[in-house]
Amino acid sequence: MPPSRRGSGTVALPTGQTLAFHTRTSEAEDLPHATKKTMADHLRKYESLFTLTPQRMRIIVEAFKETLEIGLAKHNQIVPMIPTYVFGWPTGQERGNYLALDLGGTNLRVCLVTLEGEGKFEITQSKYRLSEEQKQDDGQKLFDFCAECMKSFIDSNISGGIIEKDSILPLGFTFSYPCSQDRIDHGELIRWTKGFGAPNTEGHDVVAMFRKSLEKYQVPAEIVALTCDTTGTLIASHYVNPKTRIACIFGTGCNAAYMERVGDIPKIAGLGIDPDAEMAINCEWGAFDSFEHENLPRTKYDQTIDEQSNKPGEQAFEKLISGRYLGEILRLIICELIDEGVLFLGQNTYKLEIPYSFDTAFLSLMESDPTDELLMIIGIFTHFFAVETTLAERQFFRALAKLVGRRAARLSACGIAAIVSKMGYLEEGCAVGADGSLYKKYPGFADRVHEGLQDIFGEKGKNIVTCHAEDGSGIGAAIIAAMTKERKLANLYPNV
Ligand code: GLC
Repeated sequence: MPPSRRGSGTVALPTGQTLAFHTRTSEAEDLPHATKKTMADHLRKYESLFTLTPQRMRIIVEAFKETLEIGLAKHNQIVPMIPTYVFGWPTGQERGNYLALDLGGTNLRVCLVTLEGEGKFEITQSKYRLSEEQKQDDGQKLFDFCAECMKSFIDSNISGGIIEKDSILPLGFTFSYPCSQDRIDHGELIRWTKGFGAPNTEGHDVVAMFRKSLEKYQVPAEIVALTCDTTGTLIASHYVNPKTRIACIFGTGCNAAYMERVGDIPKIAGLGIDPDAEMAINCEWGAFDSFEHENLPRTKYDQTIDEQSNKPGEQAFEKLISGRYLGEILRLIICELIDEGVLFLGQNTYKLEIPYSFDTAFLSLMESDPTDELLMIIGIFTHFFAVETTLAERQFFRALAKLVGRRAARLSACGIAAIVSKMGYLEEGCAVGADGSLYKKYPGFADRVHEGLQDIFGEKGKNIVTCHAEDGSGIGAAIIAAMTKERKLANLYPNV
């Protein structure tokens, strides 16, 4: 009799890899599933990998603070601490019509913002989704697309009577990638982040490139200021809540901005700006711990994401936190358990094996599933990945999502704590304007950030409160354009 092929298990191959096998016959209907106990054992392993103790967090904060200082002291550092030439806070009395173009991580948005003073505004906008091809296609083409969208937006608003014919509107350009600036209407792209890779753009002035496209399509707009979503959020949040001192984006990418005393930015000491003036700094903190990987607790899943990304070594902090990567972290863990023969034996798992197929939105949905049976999770796995799950597996997935989401929030708290502690904001407290899909849509993200701040600072951590910010990439860009126009009219540092 030939040996039976029935059953399932794993075999260690001479190469060191594990081969999972399962043989189904026409009589056996049931799929093998991991027991509750196996899942609980695995969960313990992941808990120890993804949990950040308060002590570890404090060590990260110290290293983070040092990095921020180095970025302020010298040019071309890993965390570049970019001087933005946005001087001080808005008065809240900024007025007028402004265009804003927001090139973020996922969408392109064109806005017409009317600032009405007293912290009030009106906004009309159109959104366009960027394709993966556009993100990798030639840079000038990307700006041509931006200009085309802007042109059709303006035309339709002229015919709707919202924009006056023949007017040339000031434009705030929100370009949320690290650009080194030596004045407000200029910025050389240091490196693409968030999966973008459009050639012929890194090292180029993106304002000049966009201006060229605006001319090509005869768009009646004049770029007044280049800004980043974080700087925009800082200014827009302060416009409505003057307690704001810091702004963060937790979206496809992750970054922060805050207001610094010019005298404490040694690398621009030669510009002759009053040391007591204030200037917004775009930290680009997503780059923290890049290349050296000395300070952050990276798991092997994080390392795989990094190695397989279009920018290995870069954006080390961002890769542990932002919405672009959280789903992929979870997917890599699931794939490991598939390979080990723990999950989905006998089922076809090819859909789960596609990189980036597990959207971060699934983690949000899994964590917020209100049913005892975890019906939402059943839906995700059957509908998107064509696999069946047991309750024990679903509880395990939910617990995993929580670990990955919680780590992201606690690391974010470390970044905020570094700025708070560097600037001495703890006693008096401050508001942190925050925006981005993760912040807005991930259940409990803000609470976990707050919990993290208390783990770092104790009770006083309660003085630091994040609040959902007003649309910084649209309204913030408009306010910055308004502030810049006023500053130049007043002849204050007209050359920057
Ligand atoms: C990335 C970008 C940064 C942006 C952030 C959030 O980190 O480099 O400029 O602020 O994503 O969108």
